[in-house]
Amino acid sequence: MENNVRPADMARITTPELAQAFIEEQVAAVRAQVGDKKVLLALSGGVDSSVVAALLIKAIGKQLVCVHVNHGLMRKGESEQVIEIFGKELDANLIYVDATDRFLNLLAGVSDPEKKRKIIGAEFINVFDEEASKLEGIDFLAQGTIYPDILESIKAKESGKPVKSHHNVGGLPEDMKMALVEPVKLLFKDEVRVVGEALGLPHAMVYRQPFPGPGLGVRCLGAITRDRLHALREADAILREEFDNCGLAEKVWQYFIAIPDIKSVGVRNEMRYEGWPAIIRAVNTTDAMTATIEEIPYPILHKIVSRITTEVEGINRVLMDLTPKPVGTIEWE
Ligand code: XMP
Repeated sequence: MENNVRPADMARITTPELAQAFIEEQVAAVRAQVGDKKVLLALSGGVDSSVVAALLIKAIGKQLVCVHVNHGLMRKGESEQVIEIFGKELDANLIYVDATDRFLNLLAGVSDPEKKRKIIGAEFINVFDEEASKLEGIDFLAQGTIYPDILESIKAKESGKPVKSHHNVGGLPEDMKMALVEPVKLLFKDEVRVVGEALGLPHAMVYRQPFPGPGLGVRCLGAITRDRLHALREADAILREEFDNCGLAEKVWQYFIAIPDIKSVGVRNEMRYEGWPAIIRAVNTTDAMTATIEEIPYPILHKIVSRITTEVEGINRVLMDLTPKPVGTIEWE
């Protein structure tokens, strides 16, 4: 418990120099802890697990085994980026598991949001455990725990009720026998990002907006189908591209598309065209407990509407969600 408390005199890591000093310290600490043993890491491609991966690759190279499970609910290009950066550029010991069919088959016909979340969380652990059991001689499990996670679990324990019931796809069973390696557990998110950049990770990866563990699964509303999931992934990619182009990506905390399971009548190429509506959500917050709406300029919205409705198969309307949290949560499910 002792080393789960951030010392009062610990300086905040705000510069590349401070990040370098932290990296050197952690590289030495990890080498001392791990020796010549192997470490396993579930690498989702999110900021925290990516920074931990880069740090551990620097410290112990191929003694780190990264497992990236693609649950088929990633955003466009995300798994490819993990393979490119960790598998190729950093030459990591990376196991890539495409479990898309397993997840989508289990989710077929399931429309209840809580059931969907449970299925995704449980199946992630199944796939990860299966991969782990194929490996030999792993003594350590690395995790991208950060200080707010520790503070939140202390708060939850004290009050007897968890602040959030979200589960992380990286959540692992408690009977795990491996010892933990958590090199960024005393850092806040902004510090993790400074460390990530100092480790040479791409800016876009380090400043990636938050993405829920169940991924696009909670944005493809109701029972997930492959065609609607595909439309969602494409529309979301257009939204992200346009936000990048106009500078909103740097400014807005979280922005995405959700697609409900309803169709309306439209017209395309002078023919009746039935399709789903794509819903834009763009919010700002400091702690995700409350959120306000980003007011996107109309010319940008018009461009996004035009691109989504012409480029994405199956979408014939674009709507804007203007609901703050409360009353709407940030995600729709
Ligand atoms: P809500 O929808 O509760 O979301 O207002 C608040 C923030 O949490 C993210 N979120 C999750 N993050 N695992 C995560 O790691 C989850 O299961 C999960 N569900 C929601 C959401 O994207 C938003 O940033």
